[in-house]
Amino acid sequence: MALWGGRFSAGSSSMFRQVNDSLPFDQVMAAQDLQGSVIWSRALKKAGVLTDEEQQQLETALLDLKEQAEHGTLDFASSAEEDIHSFVEAALIEKLGDTGRKLHTGRSRNDQVATDFRLWVREHVASLKADLTTLSQSLLQVADRHRNAIIPGYTHLQRAQPVLFAHWCLAYVEMFKRDASRLDDLSARLNQCPLGCGALAGTTYPVDRHDIARQLGFDGPCLNSLDAVSDRDFVLELLFCASTSMMHISRMAEDLIFYNSGEAGFLQLGDAVTSGSSLMPQKKNPDALELMRGKCGRVFGALQSLLVTMKGLPLAYNKDMQEDKEGAIDTVNQWHCCLCIASEVLDSLSLNESRCREAAAQGFANATELADYLVGKGIPFRTGHDIAGQVVLKALDEGCAIEDLPLSTLQSVCDKIEDDVYPVLQLEYGINKRNILGGTSMQTVHQALDEALSAVAS
Ligand code: ARG
Repeated sequence: MALWGGRFSAGSSSMFRQVNDSLPFDQVMAAQDLQGSVIWSRALKKAGVLTDEEQQQLETALLDLKEQAEHGTLDFASSAEEDIHSFVEAALIEKLGDTGRKLHTGRSRNDQVATDFRLWVREHVASLKADLTTLSQSLLQVADRHRNAIIPGYTHLQRAQPVLFAHWCLAYVEMFKRDASRLDDLSARLNQCPLGCGALAGTTYPVDRHDIARQLGFDGPCLNSLDAVSDRDFVLELLFCASTSMMHISRMAEDLIFYNSGEAGFLQLGDAVTSGSSLMPQKKNPDALELMRGKCGRVFGALQSLLVTMKGLPLAYNKDMQEDKEGAIDTVNQWHCCLCIASEVLDSLSLNESRCREAAAQGFANATELADYLVGKGIPFRTGHDIAGQVVLKALDEGCAIEDLPLSTLQSVCDKIEDDVYPVLQLEYGINKRNILGGTSMQTVHQALDEALSAVAS
């Protein structure tokens, strides 16, 4: 039965129910709704609205429902209730009669849903942070398995300068670290409690809002009732955190799809995270990676969708705001799955180190080293850059690498070039020359990797 029937003489149309009812999706907040209701019942008792006995009955019934929710035995499917809040109230009335009818005293579904959803987001933020840590661990482990492997580094998807594969891994570790710290920022801002703000103007009952907030694990109560019931910034922030992190996952996926391609051949993916073709027997497709990239569409869409929903809403609560949930629930789910499957992909991959090395040595990726070598011989960098460019042209003519050109050819471009140029043109030389904080030398990368590994272990 609807919570608001008294003023109505006719029932709702079935199409209205379909548009209006949120129980099919907001049932995911059952645990939070029950938790908030327990604390509200205690607040009502302290305010003298409920007797000890009534509160005790309510708390017992609510905890009983909580247990059923945990075991998945609450029957949402055959319920005619509109949302999770009316579902819980109806269940209490069925169990306790008039005592059940007292719990909603001084409370509105507006402060209730704002509280429930904050609790729900808070809980998921904690588990998403754990997923981010797991993914970073997978990156550190694969980096550790291939500590000295060299891959081509790209700009404009053209081979630019060689880098350590571990350096590539640590780049994504940095991104996922920022994603986690963004969630910390969100957690700090969302942790204010709306309960006690009523429908929009504050409750008339003398409940202790500080105590309610504390009992629900919030840092304090929201300070303005109009804002408290109509603020969905915390959902938007969650969607932005998810979108940014999905963008990082997607860029990593894109790199790996390319590294896995027949053209690059840098790595192989495990059978468990790839699929075959129904037609072409030879195929092994990187579906998991493609889906990490593909799922960005719906996640970015959810952020855009809620921004548009919110932008025209007058204070305070409007039913439009019920549209905050499906996108956020789906986003949390997709983000969680993508973080987990990304870990599995990294755990499964095997790097073809010799193929990576071969590719890193091609494409004149040591031309910068030659220019820097000339700087060491007293030539201004811009001139050295030009000379190195001419040397590349020679190598292109000869169809060979710079280091394969005989000294006489190198000297025909610049007589400052001597025999000591050849070690400079070796891959490891270019790598280890970048022995600077944040650079790709073995020493800096191994140190960063070891520090990250021991931070994880402690
Ligand atoms: N299902 C609603 C939501 O998610 C709960 C709040 C309903 N409040 C109201 N006044 N109709 O927003």
